[in-house]
Amino acid sequence: MSEVAIVPDVPAATAELVVESLAGAAAARGRSAVALTGGSTAAPLFGRLREAAVPWERTEIFFTDERAVPPDHEWSNYRLAREGLLGHVAARAVHRMRGESPDLDAEAERYAEEVRSSLGDPPRLDLVLLGLGPDGHICSLFPGRPASARRGDEQLVQHVAAPTHVDPKVPRLTLLPFLVVTARAVVLQIKGADKAELLARTLKGEEDLMAWPAHWLRKACGRVVVVCDEAAASKL
Ligand code: 6PG
Repeated sequence: MSEVAIVPDVPAATAELVVESLAGAAAARGRSAVALTGGSTAAPLFGRLREAAVPWERTEIFFTDERAVPPDHEWSNYRLAREGLLGHVAARAVHRMRGESPDLDAEAERYAEEVRSSLGDPPRLDLVLLGLGPDGHICSLFPGRPASARRGDEQLVQHVAAPTHVDPKVPRLTLLPFLVVTARAVVLQIKGADKAELLARTLKGEEDLMAWPAHWLRKACGRVVVVCDEAAASKL
């Protein structure tokens, strides 16, 4: 079951967990691998991580999901990470999802191969960073979509249609649940009173992976930490 850390400073507490996870992996295995996410929690965390004692030269960076836009577009998760973090640290490798690809199905396959060639087969991430969308999505696993209800053990990555109810309305590339549930650690950052019901449903609601993809956190075999403020925890 997940640990819930109610903290005054969500990005600062998350940055400590990132250091612990990635420094531990680098010490044990000589390298570490993390998947970064987008959304409102990303930029504040990146600001903290720039100053944190992460062994960047031994860390490979992946992404949980990407929007179908070029890497310099304002909606690009890669751009968010480059401006906030990757342009400031010297990571061992950065594995970008090519949202500008004219064939996103082919790009999903290519990215899955890139993950395997970097991490082995089956691949395992040391850390996955997540946010929680208003409809219960994590990564770009949206409710009601076939991609949300199966682990995707072999496929790893999928191109999904544009969400109709969440902005921006462009197609996405997303990790399938496999790489989330097999990661050594998963950290979900969540802040604010408007996320309180969502967090309660994620941790305590009746499990339905198709209707509420964040329930995949319950299937995780590694450590799961929800880092939240008091407002987001108020319905627990
Ligand atoms: C994205 C993300 C997505 C995000 C959630 C939460 O690109 O949108 O990867 O999974 O983490 O939508 O986003 P907010 O914190 O902005 O609600």
